[in-house]
Amino acid sequence: MSLDQAQINRDLASALSAIASAVNLDAMKQIKIDFVGDKSPLAKANQLLASIDQSQRAEFGKLIGSARAQINQAFEKKSVELSEVRDTEVLLTERVDVTLPGRRTLKGGLHPLTILTNEINDLFIGLGYKVAEGPELESAWLNFDALNIPADHPARTMQDTFFVEPLDANLVLRTHTSPVQIRTMLDEKPPIYVICPGKTYRSDELDATHTPVFHQVEGLVVDENITMADLKGTLDFFAKSIFGENVKTRLRPSFFPFTEPSAEVDVFFNGRWIEWGGCGMVNEKVLIGCGIDTKKFSGFAFGMGLERTLMVKHGINDMHDIVEGDVRFTQSFGVGNK
Ligand code: PHE
Repeated sequence: MSLDQAQINRDLASALSAIASAVNLDAMKQIKIDFVGDKSPLAKANQLLASIDQSQRAEFGKLIGSARAQINQAFEKKSVELSEVRDTEVLLTERVDVTLPGRRTLKGGLHPLTILTNEINDLFIGLGYKVAEGPELESAWLNFDALNIPADHPARTMQDTFFVEPLDANLVLRTHTSPVQIRTMLDEKPPIYVICPGKTYRSDELDATHTPVFHQVEGLVVDENITMADLKGTLDFFAKSIFGENVKTRLRPSFFPFTEPSAEVDVFFNGRWIEWGGCGMVNEKVLIGCGIDTKKFSGFAFGMGLERTLMVKHGINDMHDIVEGDVRFTQSFGVGNK
């Protein structure tokens, strides 16, 4: 093989014209292989220099060198131009309109019942109470017997209570939060100031005013010189905090086996008296059963339904709204954003 000046010039010309007509960086890749890289005609020509006659080497060397330099220069220049074109294109096609409104994701929030529970806990913690909790699956003894509810009491029938198998284990889904009173009095010595919120169960069908799973909050105080006046004052404070300063409370004589005397507490709210919960002075029998010295100590207890409290406070007519979890309901309490 020998070197040919005309061929070198043709190689230079076709390289320069390929570079001139390249439309994008992909085309440049191929051009690099064909005209710039080690396998290009001019790279091969360069390798031949070693084998030609010494007299011609300088001249051909110059020629090839200058041709390759021109190609490299043109290639670099074109690459820079095409990179700029590519960058502009990318900026246009991937443009983000930062003035577009964002897409909002709904935030989760607490259920109004949880909010109410937290509010009540805070309220009583502020009075120096502790929050006490107990299991929802409760021994029948703590749910009934220890609370002086006799074996033949109607609340104990299958119509009211969920008994849990095996039946001889004597376990029930607690029908009220009052067994937490007993647990607290068995565990701790007076003075006792506790508030016990939690889930409770009764075998009711779900309808506008009933639900088989509901929530109660129980209050229990055992200390020296506790009287019905302390109970009334505490309930007044509780009612005002929940329903507003103008609410009035009244106690109506009633009966619960675990309190004596017992009363229903009503609130005067939105122009009428509404039954809110039960209360009374802790029955001596219950205190004695828990090992409390009744010559020294006395106590009061109260219990309210939280669904009921929410319904009264917010004029909710249908229990379904509280239990069904429709976010439109919770949103109306300002829970989660819209
Ligand atoms: N445990 C009662 C109920 O579920 C309410 C109550 C609690 C009454 C404490 C008196 C004292 O109806």
